[in-house]
Amino acid sequence: MAILLYVTANPKIKSESFSLTVGREFLNAYCQQAPGDRIIELDLYKMENLPNIDTDVFNGWGKLEKGESFDKLSSAEKSKVSRISELTDQFVSANKYVFVTPLWNLSIPPKMKSYIDTVCIAGKTFKYTENGPVGLLTDKKAIHIQARGGVYSKGPAREFEFGDRYIRALLSFLGIPEINSIIVEGMAQAPDKAEEIKARAIEQAKQAARAFAL
Ligand SMILES: Cc1cc2nc3c(=O)[nH]c(=O)nc-3n(C[C@H](O)[C@H](O)[C@H](O)COP(=O)(O)O)c2cc1C
Repeated sequence: MAILLYVTANPKIKSESFSLTVGREFLNAYCQQAPGDRIIELDLYKMENLPNIDTDVFNGWGKLEKGESFDKLSSAEKSKVSRISELTDQFVSANKYVFVTPLWNLSIPPKMKSYIDTVCIAGKTFKYTENGPVGLLTDKKAIHIQARGGVYSKGPAREFEFGDRYIRALLSFLGIPEINSIIVEGMAQAPDKAEEIKARAIEQAKQAARAFAL
């Protein structure tokens, strides 16, 4: 039985979101193919306790690095540091990841960045070596489903896309060998084609889900 972590970062409801619609179709197809797998859904815009790396976190980590006991941390330091550990451990325990995001101002929504900051932890998901950092998640696979209003898959606009490229680079940095993307793009550029673009992405997602389940 595999554990699939389904992480979404979008405050919209599904019916108003291309990425959430395509993501849900992916997940439904996946569950049909691998009914025994465990699915953990993280909706980052509904998650109440998603810490940012702030002064409390740095102070807490600093105390622990100096060998101080966990009891010596303030209550804010304790709760943020332990929540980050919990999220990292959950991430490490999963076998497969599905990230679902919209492209916002050429990048990912800030909640997704906060989440990524909780799972990129030296010693757990990557390590420093003499030859530079090395990813530790070498037996996992991931897919990123992204919706974007414009077209960035070809031409000079490619250079301006930092959402899918960032997620892929980051997951690769963590050592994940198999990373794919499903991109729903161009709906703002050609609104009359939006439904067609969505339908095509849903077909692609269903196919990808079946392969992802293997
Ligand atoms: C705050 C914000 C920023 C956006 N920035 C971009 C952008 O940089 N490039 C782009 O092509 N579309 C941009 N869009 C359009 C969205 O990418 C597009 O509406 C997409 O469908 C969003 O995904 P969703 O339908 O899953 O919410 C932006 C939309 C919002 C709300």
